[in-house]
Amino acid sequence: MSEVRADSPDEDYDPFAVFDESMGAGAVRDPHPVFHELRAECPVLTGPFQARFGFDEPLDPALTNPDVTPFTPLSFDAVQAVLKDGDTFSSSGYADSIGLVMGHSILEMDEPEHHAYRSLIQQAFTRKAMDGWEVELVGPIVQGLIDQFADRGHADLVRELFWPFPVHVIAGMLGLPAEELPMFHRKAVELISLAVEIERGLVASQWLYDFFAGVIAERRAAPRGDVISVLVQAELDGQRLTDEEIIAFLRLLLPAGAETTYRSSSNLMYGLLTSPDQLDRLRDDRSLMGAAIEEGLRWEPPLTGIARTAARDVELDGVLIPAGSPISVCLGAGNRDPARWDDPDRFDLSRKPQQHLAFAFGPHMCLGMHLARMETTVVINAVLDRLPNVRLAADAADPHISGLAFRSPGQLPVVFG
Ligand code: HEM
Repeated sequence: MSEVRADSPDEDYDPFAVFDESMGAGAVRDPHPVFHELRAECPVLTGPFQARFGFDEPLDPALTNPDVTPFTPLSFDAVQAVLKDGDTFSSSGYADSIGLVMGHSILEMDEPEHHAYRSLIQQAFTRKAMDGWEVELVGPIVQGLIDQFADRGHADLVRELFWPFPVHVIAGMLGLPAEELPMFHRKAVELISLAVEIERGLVASQWLYDFFAGVIAERRAAPRGDVISVLVQAELDGQRLTDEEIIAFLRLLLPAGAETTYRSSSNLMYGLLTSPDQLDRLRDDRSLMGAAIEEGLRWEPPLTGIARTAARDVELDGVLIPAGSPISVCLGAGNRDPARWDDPDRFDLSRKPQQHLAFAFGPHMCLGMHLARMETTVVINAVLDRLPNVRLAADAADPHISGLAFRSPGQLPVVFG
């Protein structure tokens, strides 16, 4: 298994730390009391909410225009209503934020372009492909990482397992050689740090363009079984993907698939470790795994907010939203709406299954959700099988989940055996 962190000439610069900090890690420990307060005032907040967390600047650069009033749906119903209606609540605003470095990706497309593009991309994410990845990639990657600390009796599960494993999975899906992985990961994180480091984000964007253009040319000449090979050959009604379109998707894949999955599995493990009776229940009855994964995602979604723009004047819960307004859709607040979940701040495996919003909803609902669920099942099962009596280390220095836009624990020091 290759080392994941990159050795970079710019040794003082840690893109991973810069990104975490820019997303509120360390500064915001628990945003939920504020979410509850705001939701109780009104299900749809008018005006910026970052100030309530001590941020002067919005986390989303699309919200920096002081002449524009943002709106934030906070209740489950308001969030779902926005995400369901892609005609009224457009995704095109991403073109002015993440699109600057990502290119014209699926995230910023509206219908009918979005549907046509998604149908092509989906050809790489079949049930058969997923079964293959589970056995050939996810299982061996997870076992290989655990091999490195299983005999030691202690480990930091975030740094040594949850953080590296989804990156390795995506690199494997793309058929990238292991030695390319550290730089690929670094550039992908620099790419999404554009809110704080726009220049660095643009350089990373060009680096990834050149990198993937080379791989695409190779796969066009000699296709293999990986995702890039499927994308260069994908066809629907005579339509094929251009290199630009494939590159925009590949630039998105690592932030969309790895940043989220590493954080969601860390959050679930944190919930289990801090609730040992529920950890024991899951260890003894693996049929609870699906419920545990959904509850982890509901309780602490790794990504608390996504963006939309009002395409027309619209009224939501009595609040008038003018055309052109940016909307910060608060998945984190929607997922803890007391109108939908009793005692919503409690992590509780025995809740009855109900739709949550961690994967969004509607036309842009996460394309990789089945993959994420499969990866999480494999990694949590492996932890329970291979690390007997796994528990938080007694001397662990206050492990906790933090962050505002992206949330996860910085570390999970455990002992076992
Ligand atoms: C627990 C892990 C994950 C979470 C919580 C998550 C969450 C989300 C959310 C909230 C969106 C909607 C974004 C928006 O509309 O603004 C989304 C879209 C997307 N996700 Fe995930 N995701 C996860 C894992 C993955 C994985 C593993 C992949 C890899 C294939 C992936 C690929 C995508 C793609 C391509 C989209 C865009 C879909 C579209 O615009 O139609 N995600 N995800």
